[in-house]
Amino acid sequence: MKIDTRNVDKFIDSFQLETYKKRKDEIYNLLDHEKMNGWLKPDLSCLDDIFRIRDRVINNSKCLVVVGIGGSFLGSCALYEMFTPYFKKDKFPIIFAGTSLSSTYMKELLEYLETVDFSLNVISKSGTTLETSLTYEAIKKVMEKKYSSLKMKERIIVTTDPIKGTLRKEALEEGYDTFEIPSNIGGRYSLLTAAHLFPLSFCLDIKELIMGYKEGLKRCEEAFSYAVIRRCLFDKGKYVENFVAYENNWYYYLEWLKQLFGESEGKNGRGILPISMIHTRDLHSLGQFVQDGNKIMFETFFKIEQSKECIINGKNFHDINKLVEDSVITAHAAGDVPCIVIESDEVTPKTIGELSSFFFLSAAFSGYLFEINPFNQPGVDVYKKEVKNNYQKYIASSLLIEK
Ligand code: PA5
Repeated sequence: MKIDTRNVDKFIDSFQLETYKKRKDEIYNLLDHEKMNGWLKPDLSCLDDIFRIRDRVINNSKCLVVVGIGGSFLGSCALYEMFTPYFKKDKFPIIFAGTSLSSTYMKELLEYLETVDFSLNVISKSGTTLETSLTYEAIKKVMEKKYSSLKMKERIIVTTDPIKGTLRKEALEEGYDTFEIPSNIGGRYSLLTAAHLFPLSFCLDIKELIMGYKEGLKRCEEAFSYAVIRRCLFDKGKYVENFVAYENNWYYYLEWLKQLFGESEGKNGRGILPISMIHTRDLHSLGQFVQDGNKIMFETFFKIEQSKECIINGKNFHDINKLVEDSVITAHAAGDVPCIVIESDEVTPKTIGELSSFFFLSAAFSGYLFEINPFNQPGVDVYKKEVKNNYQKYIASSLLIEK
């Protein structure tokens, strides 16, 4: 992995750059003493259980339904999409549910699940997230019709807080298999916990992912430089960061990045707004705005050297894709859009593991450079509280009507 900032230098004030750089030791120290920094030293004692339960699920089920949202969903979904072939669906299928309250989706999902043998992994650190709780409850109803309570025990896996919460209590009472999301790791930093490693064990080599992740954690210096560059660009009025990939199956990885940076930085009226585009598709829509619109944006491009080969009539698709990427970077940079380029030879669980922990470090450093706590999400908690109050009123009134 290499980071090319050649197209950014002219936008950066060197005095400011040096001022931020001088904060390095202070910021490293803040992260060292942070109580939510468990992701720096992931506890991987769950691996044997992950493989054991995965093998059982593969034997007794045709698919795994993963119920979770936000930090309990995006990491596994991102890597599942990235490492599952576009058309040859030869990997064990995973259905990600619980990411909306669409009644049409729920109805169709439940009807579908009536027709297949499946296992269910519910993932929620708090155990109280509305979408997750309702979806879990609905799917369990389908299971109750199909399976005995003994069989349900073999098919329900609960991933939640190690001690507290309703899910932990239920899993203990019912005897379900459980995994932990450690208390010192927040949802969006939980990629190397069972919340993601268990679903990912069905579709990629998680040991390689772990190896790469550990490599990425050694890239503190580069992660800090990336955070400093972003901070300097913000000072120049570049309030939006556009993450750009040239491969459709990166869609959810970019969504994962948006959560990581959006939730880590966007507080106290501060932060860079993360957005994402998949090229070349989005060049034909938002491309106009990036090139020629309000100059509030900078971009982080992902550039991958190798790809599956497809040459038709002497035209190599990957070469042309790279040619377009280089041309776009040149055009955008000339249009006053600073472009950072992150280059990698290939996309493997190892390189993505490395990239992911690099971004964890950057998001943390970036939060500190904005003088905010990168590990909480008070904004999410505000709306969750409002929803919870209104939901309780709704439940109370529907119970009254039933009576
Ligand atoms: O990053 C976060 O903290 C959030 O996105 C949460 O992961 C999300 O709200 C789901 O929470 P929980 O795992 O408690 O259901």
